[in-house]
Amino acid sequence: MRPVLPTIILIGFMGAGKTSVGQLVARALGREFVDTDALIQRQARMDVNEIFQREGEEGFRRREIAAIDRAIAIPGRVIAVGGGAVLSAENRTALKQAGLLVYLRATPETLAARLVGATDRPLLDTTDRVGRIRDLLVARGPIYETAGDLVVDTDRQSPEQSAGEVLEWYRRRVDELAGRV
Ligand code: S3P
Repeated sequence: MRPVLPTIILIGFMGAGKTSVGQLVARALGREFVDTDALIQRQARMDVNEIFQREGEEGFRRREIAAIDRAIAIPGRVIAVGGGAVLSAENRTALKQAGLLVYLRATPETLAARLVGATDRPLLDTTDRVGRIRDLLVARGPIYETAGDLVVDTDRQSPEQSAGEVLEWYRRRVDELAGRV
């Protein structure tokens, strides 16, 4: 029988810990880790700031759709997608078909604290970051909540603890899918 190895996709706002948690989960499962922002930057030979400057958010989102297609083409990976990826219905459908979605949730205050000093998030290039995050979360929060098969509250957790929660849930889901429980 073929093993059931669904792709794991980490979603959530910037600063939620998608990359750190994703790397830990991938290592624990012996899977390949892919970060779609890294794919976009490699393919464009530009960093995210430069893409936003030259092509606008629209250009970045076009590149993001293509990067997601490439990331999900090989099953079984652990994938971290950018915080805005699930805003597109096209991406949501593709990601849902590709595997299991995990929403890493955090409050605006936690997210802003984790992003102190980060200069590589063009959407947060403002003096009132908490305000901007709060505004964006009003629109995005419900989308993250609905899209996630699992929601992990990361506010008071280390990336290791969040990864542990994801792994426990994932192993249970794989057992269920394989009909072992
Ligand atoms: C974005 C999140 C970023 C990056 C881009 C836009 C967003 O990724 O894709 O700056 O719209 O939330 P991270 O969530 O990995 O920071």
